Parts: sequence; C-alpha cells; structure tokens
Amino acid sequence: MLELKENYRLAGTINGTTSAEGIQAILDKLGEAEVYGNIDSSKVILDIGSGDGSALNELKTRSGVTRAIGVEFIESRHDEAVANYPECEFHLAAIQEKLDLVAEADIIFTNDICFPKEVFWSYWSSIKVGAAVVYNKISNSVKLIHHYDYDRREDFNKLTVEANNMLSEFHIIIKK
Ligand SMILES: C[S@@+](CC[C@H](N)C(=O)[O-])C[C@H]1O[C@@H](n2cnc3c(N)ncnc32)[C@H](O)[C@@H]1O
Repeated sequence: MLELKENYRLAGTINGTTSAEGIQAILDKLGEAEVYGNIDSSKVILDIGSGDGSALNELKTRSGVTRAIGVEFIESRHDEAVANYPECEFHLAAIQEKLDLVAEADIIFTNDICFPKEVFWSYWSSIKVGAAVVYNKISNSVKLIHHYDYDRREDFNKLTVEANNMLSEFHIIIKK
C-alpha cells in the first residue's frame, strides 16, 4: 500500500471541486445506453475523495439514487460535508481502508487529479464487474490499455467538464 503520509501530502496541495454543470454532464454521459444506461434509484454511488461533499450531493440529487457515499481522509473537509449534506453518507477514512464500500458501488466517481497513481490501483480489484468508473486522472487509462485489456477506441468514454477551476477531461469505463 502506498505510504499514506505521501498521499496526505499530495492531497493537501490541491483541493478542487467538480462544478454542478460538470456533474450533470457526467450523469448525462453515464445515462447513454452504450455507456452505462439508466441510473435507477437503487444504484449506489461512491465519490472517492469526496472533499467538501458538493459533488456527491449533486450526484445524489440529480440522479435520484437513495444511497450516495463519500470517503474523504482530511477531517476538515469531511466535517464540512457532513454539516452541509446530511442526506449523503460520509466516511472519514482513506479509501485504502474502505474497500468494502468500493465493492458495494455501482458507480464510482473520483476527481482524482491530485492522487498518487498507486491509489487507483490499490482499490481497482475491489470494484465490481459492471460498475461504471468515472475518473479524472487520465494517465490511468494508459495502464488500463496496456495491462488490463481495455481497448483504446471502444472502452473509453471521454468528456470535458469544469472541475478544479479549469476544463478537465474525465474518462468513463465499465469494469470488466
Ligand atoms: C480534487 S478533490 C475532489 C472533491 C470532490 N470529489 C469533487 O470532485 O468536487 C479530491 C479529494 O480527495 C481526497 N483524497 C486524496 N487521497 C485520498 C484517499 N486516499 N482517500 C480518501 N480521500 C482522498 C483529498 O483530500 C481531496 O479532498
């Protein structure tokens, strides 16, 4: 497992959020039949690195899911999320310690631009087959192509949205 100390250090350097319009664009893309399809209320959404909770709250209210889970390891950000969005379920923890929640999720969202690359791979095998994975750190895609049998053309759904005060490219894949 990656040293959490280094993970914390990097997380402290960037604290961005995904815009509400960006979340809507991601949900629109996910809802396309050839990407993920209908997001009914029983689906479980997990935001890995949920920060102030605003993105998770947008995901929950705009999709209509009953259960929206956020995992965030910086206490002040977690506390802000709990105070502002009581309808969501927040956990104060590193995602590396919450692989049971990863395994429950149908849709995983992570605005992980500031994450050490090892973090994604530390929870990768816990993601269930068929889950949709939305991520910002697009260098993940290179490893998915070369080591995990994802096809360059067909497996990656790409969109650009406003996140972290800039235009950011997100990729969506379905876990094989
Ligand atoms: C760029 S913010 C994204 C906030 C929110 N998801 C959004 O898109 O608006 C990323 C968050 O991930 C958190 N984070 C980084 N590594 C983490 C880890 N291993 N476990 C839990 N949270 C982590 C950081 O502290 C930071 O608050």
